[in-house]
Amino acid sequence: MEIVMKTIAQDTRPAFDAGLSPASALPPVAPRFDLYTGIHKAIRVGCAETLTRLGAVDADDDDEVQTMTGALVAFLAQMRSHVMHENRFVHPAMEARRPGSASQVAGEHEEHLAAIEALEREAFALAATPAALRREPALRLYRHFALFVAENHQHMHHEETVHNAVLWSAYSDAELLAIELAIIGSQSQQSMAGWLHWFAPALATAELAPVLAGARGGMPADVFETLLSSMAARQSPERHGKVRAAVEAIAAAQAAA
Ligand SMILES: [Fe+2]
Repeated sequence: MEIVMKTIAQDTRPAFDAGLSPASALPPVAPRFDLYTGIHKAIRVGCAETLTRLGAVDADDDDEVQTMTGALVAFLAQMRSHVMHENRFVHPAMEARRPGSASQVAGEHEEHLAAIEALEREAFALAATPAALRREPALRLYRHFALFVAENHQHMHHEETVHNAVLWSAYSDAELLAIELAIIGSQSQQSMAGWLHWFAPALATAELAPVLAGARGGMPADVFETLLSSMAARQSPERHGKVRAAVEAIAAAQAAA
């Protein structure tokens, strides 16, 4: 876990990237296509929920530890795939029109991949430790994951501000949408379902509905319905109804166009 702590100690990004500046330093809510914010909102929920569960685990309870470490490893796999998607689809686009613009974050991604691997090793080791000896490694894993979460929050803020500025200056919304669709199209149905688990409570209706409407076009109706229904447990009945209505409205508008 030295990698994560080193990253934080040596962070040379400007103060506003650490969220220390007045609100005026934050970017305006631009009416541009945003590749980053939706998925990052989902990741922020995943980080918060996973960290909370990890902190609350009864380390001497075999079932709880197995369930918790399984959930942590599954979330880390999603984080790894997110890094790979950005490396494969977003950074080449940035570098193609603004050479060097993705180099800092590319280096951070290497550190994230190493940190993910280290956290996975810790999780597996914890699960294999006898119950009576688990308290200390469980607390250590909780703290290491908290540092990983902290670094990722700064990292995502940098991408949503600095990277978006590059993308918005170099690409049209239609081109950015094509990148988004390529990312979605590269994922399995199982992977999509895994992400919707975090998207469901993370996004505003107006953000979530277009994502779902886009997914709907790429799968059979019954598969889409299963996916949509799986989100109900993660939303209030009112919110779930609003999302369904918004998806229907988008589909009706597309059919009429
Ligand atoms: Fe990233």
